[in-house]
Amino acid sequence: MSNIPTPHINAKQGDFARTVLMPGDPLRSKFIAETFLEDPVLVNNVRGVQGYTGAYKGKRVSVMASGMGMPSIGIYSYELYNFYGVENIIRIGTAGAINAKLKVRDVVAAMSAYSTSNYGYQFGLDGVLAPCCSYELLSAAVKAGEAIGQPVVPGPILSSDVFYEHNNALSASSKVAKLGVMCVEMEAYALYLNAAAAGKNALALLTISDSLITGESLSAEERQTSFTKMMEIALEIA
Ligand code: HPA
Repeated sequence: MSNIPTPHINAKQGDFARTVLMPGDPLRSKFIAETFLEDPVLVNNVRGVQGYTGAYKGKRVSVMASGMGMPSIGIYSYELYNFYGVENIIRIGTAGAINAKLKVRDVVAAMSAYSTSNYGYQFGLDGVLAPCCSYELLSAAVKAGEAIGQPVVPGPILSSDVFYEHNNALSASSKVAKLGVMCVEMEAYALYLNAAAAGKNALALLTISDSLITGESLSAEERQTSFTKMMEIALEIA
């Protein structure tokens, strides 16, 4: 029995390219498809989670939103890897800096993801999991960034389950910052574990949208322009 369509994706086999770019926001997915892709075709719209396939410089590429948080990206990335034959997922999102070396607009490539999530418990390992990105996608992203004058900063990140921390003094981000973790977002850990389990490739590229250290944050307009560079890097390596 075929697993597709799934409860969350009503595309047909072959509708997705080998590489899917994944912003969190469905409207950003639409923006990327309409701005950067040639002949974009809408292949999914279940729950408004827009997925498109088109071409970038002649290369077939898809873009589909992940929604927010690990349960959400966990579902979409699992189905793309395991049911739709997708090989590479490149998350393109935002993160809050927890390291003084990072400024807003910087672009981080998540080499590994610490997490407060229990998404990894399903693997039943007695120790701890160490999900990491694809080296091929990471090195390609660093090169693509150099070529367009947008440095890509590789390093460890934190994937948190909590955006609004109840008690800042106890927050996971303040603890892992002392271990050299650079920024906090909410999806990469589950994406990297799904990629590892499926034998596929993943990378999270993250634009720093705010700093938990300085309180600085990007306006909506500034977010758009800095996202454009990150999108170009993702499209180049797709
Ligand atoms: N926390 C979690 N996710 C984020 C943040 C943050 O501060 N900023 C952008 N994404």
